[in-house]
Amino acid sequence: MQDDLKKLAAQAAIPYVKNCRILGVGTGSTVNHFIDLLAPLKHQFEGAVSSSEASTERLLALGIPVLDLNAVGTLDIYVDGADEINTNLELIKGGGGALTREKIIAAASKHFICIADHSKLVSRLGKFPLPVEVIPMARSYVARTISALGGQPVWRENFITDNGNVILDIHRLDILEPMKLENTLNNITGVVTTGLFANRSADTVLLASEQGTQTLT
Ligand code: 5RP
Repeated sequence: MQDDLKKLAAQAAIPYVKNCRILGVGTGSTVNHFIDLLAPLKHQFEGAVSSSEASTERLLALGIPVLDLNAVGTLDIYVDGADEINTNLELIKGGGGALTREKIIAAASKHFICIADHSKLVSRLGKFPLPVEVIPMARSYVARTISALGGQPVWRENFITDNGNVILDIHRLDILEPMKLENTLNNITGVVTTGLFANRSADTVLLASEQGTQTLT
C-alpha cells in the first residue's frame, strides 16, 4: 500500500537526524509519518523549522518546538516529500501548496533529504501539474503569460496559501530543461515561487518500494 511505503521512506530518514541541532520539516502525508517518528527523539535536537501551518500544528501537538528560521541560521537537514522526482534529483513539489516556505527552507539547509514512495520517480518531470504560487492580483496576467509559453494553467480554486497567495497548477508541460523553466517562471512578474526544485535539487532521495528503501544521491 502506498501509505506503508511513505512510512518506510520516512523511517529511512530517521538515522540522518542523529547529531542534528535543528531540522527543517516539510509538508504532506509522507512528512507526517516523519514527524510522528520524530516525537520519541525530540530530546535529541533543539527543534524544527516548519514549512507550513499544518506541519507546525502537528509538530507542536507532539511537543516538538517550532523555531523561526530567522533566529536559527543554516539548518543541518531538511526532510520533505515530492510529487515527482527525476534521476538528477530535481523535483516537482507543491501538491499541498506549501512550495514557497519549502523552497526557502531547502535553500537554507545544508542537506535536503527527499522521502517518497517509488511511484514519484519519473523519467521526465511534468506529468504532475506544476504548482506556481502567485500574488492574487497577478493571477490572470501570470496565467496568460504561462499559456503563451505553452503550459495550461488551472487556478486552484478555493485555496489560499499560508502566505495569502493563490496557486496556478500548470498542465501539459514536458519539462526538458528544469532549471531553465524554473528561471523563466521565476522571472514572470507576480510569480512568488514555482514548485520546480531544480536550482536547489535534493541532495539525497530515499525511495521506498516493496523491495525496501533505495538511496539516490
Ligand atoms: C507539499 C509538497 C509535498 O511534499 C508533496 O505534495 C508530496 O506530498 P505527499 O507526501 O502527501 O505525497 O510538496 O507542498
